[in-house]
Amino acid sequence: MKLLLAIAVVLLLVVMEGMAARGTSRRTKRELMSPLHMGGIRDPFGSYCERRGGCCPGRDDQCTVPYLDTICYCDLFCNRTVSDCCPDFWGHCLGISPPFIGTCERNGHKFLSGQTYKDNCNLCTCGTTGRWECEQQACLIERDLIQGVNRGNYGWRAANYSQFYGMSLDEGLRYRLGTQRPSRTIMNMNEMQMNMDSQNDHIPQYFNAAEKWPGKIHEPLDQGNCAASWAFSTAAVASDRISIQSMGHMTPQLSPQNLISCDTRNQGGCAGGRIDGAWWYLRRRGVVTEECYPFSAPQQTPAEVGRCMMQSRSVGRGKRQATARCPSTHTYHNDIYQSTPPYRLSSNEKEIMKEIMNNGPVQAILEVHEDFFVYKSGIYKHTDVSSTKPPHHRKHNTHSVRIIGWGEERNYDGTMKKYWIAANSWGKNWGENGYFRIARGENECEIEAFVIGVWGRVTMEDMQNHHHHNRRK
Ligand SMILES: *[C@@H]1O[C@H](CO)[C@@H](O)[C@H](O)[C@H]1NC(C)=O
Ligand SMILES: *[C@@H]1O[C@H](CO)[C@@H](O)[C@H](O)[C@H]1NC(C)=O
Repeated sequence: MKLLLAIAVVLLLVVMEGMAARGTSRRTKRELMSPLHMGGIRDPFGSYCERRGGCCPGRDDQCTVPYLDTICYCDLFCNRTVSDCCPDFWGHCLGISPPFIGTCERNGHKFLSGQTYKDNCNLCTCGTTGRWECEQQACLIERDLIQGVNRGNYGWRAANYSQFYGMSLDEGLRYRLGTQRPSRTIMNMNEMQMNMDSQNDHIPQYFNAAEKWPGKIHEPLDQGNCAASWAFSTAAVASDRISIQSMGHMTPQLSPQNLISCDTRNQGGCAGGRIDGAWWYLRRRGVVTEECYPFSAPQQTPAEVGRCMMQSRSVGRGKRQATARCPSTHTYHNDIYQSTPPYRLSSNEKEIMKEIMNNGPVQAILEVHEDFFVYKSGIYKHTDVSSTKPPHHRKHNTHSVRIIGWGEERNYDGTMKKYWIAANSWGKNWGENGYFRIARGENECEIEAFVIGVWGRVTMEDMQNHHHHNRRK
């Protein structure tokens, strides 16, 4: 009897425990939700309960309105210690001022908690305690970086660019560059062996392809917030090379957009791409001119690339023809331009110079660091100005550019500073009219690590045909 009673008590305890456990697990999602207004009320003047058409008495889990990326409630139950009320619940349903509002000050004006403003690239929010809480991202334009460069003796000057102001460093690295680092197999591509006969080869101290080949070296374009330097640098080098090789019979500015929209195999369009893929496309498919297939800078980020508006088909003897009219109505000339396979140059400064002097501009990768964006003039070298800042202020990513010449400049102490002249793709108001100079002979930012040359595919027939085009104009 005693034993039976004991068993019954144990059983009862087990059952009760089970019920208690079920009780807690039955707490609704709503009760477990974290409070909505931790960082102050967002959108404190928004209309929620009011727009819903009123408030609900007691507890009503259906009495909700969408709020930011979640929901808020307009029932009286929401006003417990942990609040999930809509921002206008207190004002609209209770007629009192919300409990979570603090005020912050800025330029002599008062702001309520939840109100925001943008400080360069960082969003600042008025917190419940009445203090501004700002994001701590590194920005692309930082006043102390510009001042640090200009006060130091770095050999170049920095400036503020309105097109970069308000962007974070991460956004700059993500949207303004866009060349994938060549893979190890590509990096190991055989380098061209050049016959460097130093006796016979006179390499001048200064050389600028635009002066040797006037009218055949193309002006820098602006890639905007489209991370497609892979397409811009490739199209630019090919344009110059075709113009030089055809002796000016054709001077096409080849279309980066044609590559961005149509060379999509293993390529990321405005989200980055590979230069070996771009050269493959130029060789096998070819592209039209910028005039025919103009670049449209993305209006938002990440950019949308748009579908490919034209392909090319073979017309025999390795030549190709466009399958459609130009996307631009301003021209009928939808001729396809192609290149030969590209070749890799050695990283030897002299060989690169010889190549530029004899055949024209070359393509190079460039590791872009935080201070490069504010370059204005002079001979760029990566500085240590950001070295005292937290690590997220010091970042870099791969870009590609076109080298068109070189020179040297005397320092104050009489030593010489050697430089490359290179074209960027950030428009003509950046740097020295869209160009920059960078230290030469020391692989600054990897500029000499991977250098590419190419020949256009130009025949005598091409020269005559295009010549006629020009004459007919
Ligand atoms: C709602 O919450 C506020 C602040 O906690 C409190 O002052 C008020 O009395 C509450 N109102 C009701 C109806 O519970
Ligand atoms: C840079 O220019 C923008 C306007 O384009 C200006 O608002 C900002 O204060 C400037 N920043 C610096 C650091 O000079």
